[in-house]
Amino acid sequence: MSRDGFGSKLGIIAAAAGSAVGLGNIYRFPCELGNNGGGAFLLVYLLIVLCLGVPVMLSEFVIGRRTQKNPIGAFKALRPKSAWPLLGYMGVACALVIMAFYSTVAGWTLEYTVKAIGNQFQGKDIETMEQEFVAFHNIGWKNILWQGIFIFLTGFVVFKGVANGIEKYSKVLMPLLVLILLVLAVRSVTLPGGTDGLTFLFKPDFSKITGSVLISALGQAFFSLSMGMGVLITYGSYIKKEDNMTTTALSVTLSDTLVAVLAGVVIFPAAFSFGIQPTAGMGLVFNTLPMIFNQMAGGYYFCVIFFVLLAVAALTSTISLLEVIVAYLVEEVHLTRRWSTVLASVACLAVGVFASLSLKDGSGIAIGGKSFFDCLDFLSSNILLPLGALMIVLFVGWILGKTAFFEEITNGGKLKLSIKGVIYFIIKFVAPLAIAVIFITGLL
Ligand code: PHE
Repeated sequence: MSRDGFGSKLGIIAAAAGSAVGLGNIYRFPCELGNNGGGAFLLVYLLIVLCLGVPVMLSEFVIGRRTQKNPIGAFKALRPKSAWPLLGYMGVACALVIMAFYSTVAGWTLEYTVKAIGNQFQGKDIETMEQEFVAFHNIGWKNILWQGIFIFLTGFVVFKGVANGIEKYSKVLMPLLVLILLVLAVRSVTLPGGTDGLTFLFKPDFSKITGSVLISALGQAFFSLSMGMGVLITYGSYIKKEDNMTTTALSVTLSDTLVAVLAGVVIFPAAFSFGIQPTAGMGLVFNTLPMIFNQMAGGYYFCVIFFVLLAVAALTSTISLLEVIVAYLVEEVHLTRRWSTVLASVACLAVGVFASLSLKDGSGIAIGGKSFFDCLDFLSSNILLPLGALMIVLFVGWILGKTAFFEEITNGGKLKLSIKGVIYFIIKFVAPLAIAVIFITGLL
């Protein structure tokens, strides 16, 4: 049976960017930035993306395209009878961990879409918005229902297969999301007091850079670029032999970073203007955005479209996460695609239910004082993704080696790539060292 491939060059860029751009950019990035000192976090984040983004992404693409397999099969093919396939298993586990809490927030985008359609934000002040947000978390069944619907939607698209499932949705809608964010950014920075938000975002206070800020920025960068757990190995396996993977990696990294910074420019000026603390976390996005729409001509329509697009952005990311688990079940466990999708979806929901419920007041679903939701988030971004990325660059730099790497990124010598030496140097020495140092500083 031949594997699906992406129909066009734009197809793989759209799909990889669809995976990268999601709640990580619009929801998680502002949360992390707000909790980690603002401008200082942005600076560290951008430096990490600039130095490590393309090299790590390319490492994953190379492993995927060379083997045409899922992460576990890929390592089995490249280094049979070694411990490397464990890295693939870690990726599949990580996909499950991320899906479990990501689908909680994805579910909220549906709830907020419905609220937006019902014009339920109109005329509300920020206190009311905040109270309603908390009240919503306390209705456990509603969170779980939306989460279940979201996972079902994801499963539906994944079941339909890679090429026609993913490509179709992300090509048109993501540029539209960027457009709306641009309009929102203009409104946000022109709100009274909005410039304070820009100062918070762009003016680094170097004294704020600590070990925990470094690891949070590293984790956020990997999370946002979908790196370190096999999504890009899986997608790389669908890249055609004649595609230029380096420009693909560059476009994906650039667009993802652009959307994150743009989300910051939308959120922080408005948050400062409405008196919302930058450390407000989850409420930052869900409470601030409707307040901006309330201040805009045609705000009702923008609000509805925005939440729909946010849900779509989340969907193209959850598709990629579920695809990792499904590709593993199909190719390694030899289940049918239908049963693999059902099994993967049920597993994600089974863990995800606890993530959703853990946000209820006094739910007690917590480990060491951290809600289960936060634990899953922390485990994936600050531990599994950095570890995964570290092992992936070590594998490409030291095991797979220079010849194979160059052969793959130049399409067997057909592409002239003057920076290939620099990229390889980063993969072999700089990236492992940087990730290891930040990881260890973060643990101290
Ligand atoms: N990158 C996605 C986002 O920013 C989340 C994600 C992480 C998707 C890891 C796949 C793998 O929303």
